[in-house]
Amino acid sequence: MNSATPRHTRIVGTGSCLPPRRLSNADLVVQLASRGIETSDEWIVERTGIRARHFVDDGVNASDLAARAARYALESAGCRADDIDLIIVATSTPDMVFPATASIVQNKLGVCGCPAFDVQAVCSGFVYALTVADAMIRAGSARRALVIGAEVFSRILDFNDRGTCVLFGDGAGAVVLAASDTPGILATDLHADGRHVGILCVPGTVSGGQVLGDPVLKMDGQAVFKLAVGVLESTARTVLDKAGRSAEQLDWLIPHQANIRILQATARKLKLPMEKVIVTVDQHGNTSAASIPLALDVAVRDGRIRAGDSVMLEGVGGGFTWGAVLLDF
Ligand code: ACO
Repeated sequence: MNSATPRHTRIVGTGSCLPPRRLSNADLVVQLASRGIETSDEWIVERTGIRARHFVDDGVNASDLAARAARYALESAGCRADDIDLIIVATSTPDMVFPATASIVQNKLGVCGCPAFDVQAVCSGFVYALTVADAMIRAGSARRALVIGAEVFSRILDFNDRGTCVLFGDGAGAVVLAASDTPGILATDLHADGRHVGILCVPGTVSGGQVLGDPVLKMDGQAVFKLAVGVLESTARTVLDKAGRSAEQLDWLIPHQANIRILQATARKLKLPMEKVIVTVDQHGNTSAASIPLALDVAVRDGRIRAGDSVMLEGVGGGFTWGAVLLDF
């Protein structure tokens, strides 16, 4: 590539990691019953499409899942950790208040020197991180980036609140991005509306050596549902317009895996058959910033997503934040 060539960003490798401890709805029902909390497989499947999720064991952190997913992504890209010149981790469940989980991942990968930082945009985090990495690559400040979404949401769930604790899981997904003279990422679109901070949040904080406020997830499910369906349609249309493409030209849609009904409503609005939507929420639950790269890796490894396919990634979550990335894989 010479200096006159426009610089583009391509995904050249994907990887993911789920902790081995898998809980089916039936397992979770039993666990919650021991606390006097009543739920059922039928309720969870009908309202959310979730059948199972993975939870980490004590002592396993977001950086452990992130580093494992990153190694698989590096392997699939055919490159080594020291080829990477930028690491961004999207997470809302960092190992520590500081430093960034990205620094911890960098150390676990056995490299040092390149910039490493976290992006906090809850379930939109991966789309935000991908957009930042794409901009840095196109600006010439990075050539090969690791972008990771990693979460241990089981740590911030209230297992006495059946309305939220059945929805989430733990996991990580990663991509390796490389500068390229042919387009991969075609268009990006990011938004936030801070008026809705309160509908999905973990309001606690650390102060004076103590946790102040409630350090578990709070959600107004119906408000989230309504907002999510609206913004997933609008951001999809925006990136399609920016790239001069139509929804019919999409091979695959990978929305944030929050709830099957949100995925179905989004597909309906874009007039896409569900066969074009990658669905992992049934097996992973909602893994927040990890859900999109996890779903991407699953579909790449099972052979559905192939080189050249047109793929749209869509995030939505707390903040309220949302956004999309349209790319040729
Ligand atoms: N098991 C059994 N009953 C339950 C459960 C449960 N796990 N959770 C709630 N209920 C009960 C409620 O107590 C309520 O009972 P009541 O009528 O006797 O009061 C009844 O079910 C209906 O509760 P709602 O909250 O109104 O149920 P709703 O149909 O809205 O479904 C849900 C809840 C699934 C959370 C839905 O609002 C939703 O999908 N929201 C989207 C939010 C989402 O996906 N969030 C993920 C994080 S956000 C993100 O990633 C973008």
